[in-house]
Amino acid sequence: MISVNVDQWHFPRTDLAKHYFKSFELGVSTRTVLFAPRKMGKTEFLIYDLMPVAIEYNYLPVYINLWKNKEAPHEAIIESLSVTLESITNKGMKYVKKTLQGIISKLKISTEFGAEFSTSLEPVISSFDAIKAPSNQLTYISKLIRELIKQAEKTPLLLIIDEVQHLSVSKNFDPLTYNLRTMIDENRNRVFAVLTGSSRSGLRKLFSDSKSPLYRFADMESFPVMGIEFVEHIGRVFKAVTGNVFDVKKSNRIFKKLNYNPDYFRTLVRIMALHEEIDINLAYKNVIDLIGHDNEYKALFDKLNDLDLELIKRVIGNQAVYSQNYMDKLSSKLGEIISRGKIQSRIKRLEKINVITKNLHGDYLIETPGFIEWIKKTQH
Ligand SMILES: Nc1ncnc2c1ncn2[C@@H]1O[C@H](COP(=O)(O)OP(=O)(O)OP(=O)(O)O)[C@@H](O)[C@H]1O
Ligand SMILES: [Mg+2]
Repeated sequence: MISVNVDQWHFPRTDLAKHYFKSFELGVSTRTVLFAPRKMGKTEFLIYDLMPVAIEYNYLPVYINLWKNKEAPHEAIIESLSVTLESITNKGMKYVKKTLQGIISKLKISTEFGAEFSTSLEPVISSFDAIKAPSNQLTYISKLIRELIKQAEKTPLLLIIDEVQHLSVSKNFDPLTYNLRTMIDENRNRVFAVLTGSSRSGLRKLFSDSKSPLYRFADMESFPVMGIEFVEHIGRVFKAVTGNVFDVKKSNRIFKKLNYNPDYFRTLVRIMALHEEIDINLAYKNVIDLIGHDNEYKALFDKLNDLDLELIKRVIGNQAVYSQNYMDKLSSKLGEIISRGKIQSRIKRLEKINVITKNLHGDYLIETPGFIEWIKKTQH
């Protein structure tokens, strides 16, 4: 780590956080689901920006990361609720702000682990045994929420649930999901919720499938990307810490090329801060190599054939993959007849290996961050 003060690198997004509370206050919604691909800054926003603003707006925030215990997400819920309840019971609502600051500081430390030179994306769905929450644990969760509402007196509760799409990966999580929904529905004016997810298809399953316990629970919104202000902020800290110059314009172009991914960009800046001899172009190349290496993009790339690569280009260009004209062009380019069925089966496979996904409107998008940039940079 370059400096002991990790907070200084954080680019604050206070206005964005306030925006969600304003819509709560206007009664527009009492729950929000935010979507962004992996490593786009959701967790950092929740802990560094949303929680402090929640306190300022007089809410009682409880942060729950469902990936903390993938096999038994109910345990992560119980842990977060109990820690908050215990602190309030011990110190009383009078000191709640102080208590929450302590909880936030601990959460900040836990998010710092592994931040250095790692661009690896843990798979959204890795293999694990999904444990069904025993009914006494579900009753316990309801009890904890009721008790928190009681202790909080007039302060509304804000449940912040990170990686909520995890609830969609197994039917075994359905009772827990029903239980959560019921508790939130029953206490509509006392319990608010901000949920985040990093798998579009997971979120679609959770909120748009009529068989899901969270069907129509909330509308999905895109979590906005950061712009040049983020680059400027990182540049200021970089200059202060290293005394070296920072080219904002060039850096901003690179931030764009990295799909506005703050994690990749901070890795790039770390490389430059630690190695004065490395300029931004070389640092960029290093980051692309790191992304490819950490995520085994070469192995993924080797699974693709020429038709896949053409289809990916088409998806990036936002163009229809099934037009007759396109199929004719593809057939002559690839020297074989490309039928609708052939495209369909390759598209299905690309979805299965997480290279592309469908958005809520049914359009295809690239799902694996950094993969395209890696292809462009390394495969000619
Ligand atoms: N506001 C910010 N200011 C500075 N750096 C940031 C900011 N947001 C994110 N980052 C950088 O990006 C990294 C990834 O952010 P974060 O873990 O919040 O992403 P995420 O969207 O929650 O990812 P995942 O889907 O994997 O959980 C952070 O560790 C940090 O280095
Ligand atoms: Mg996260």
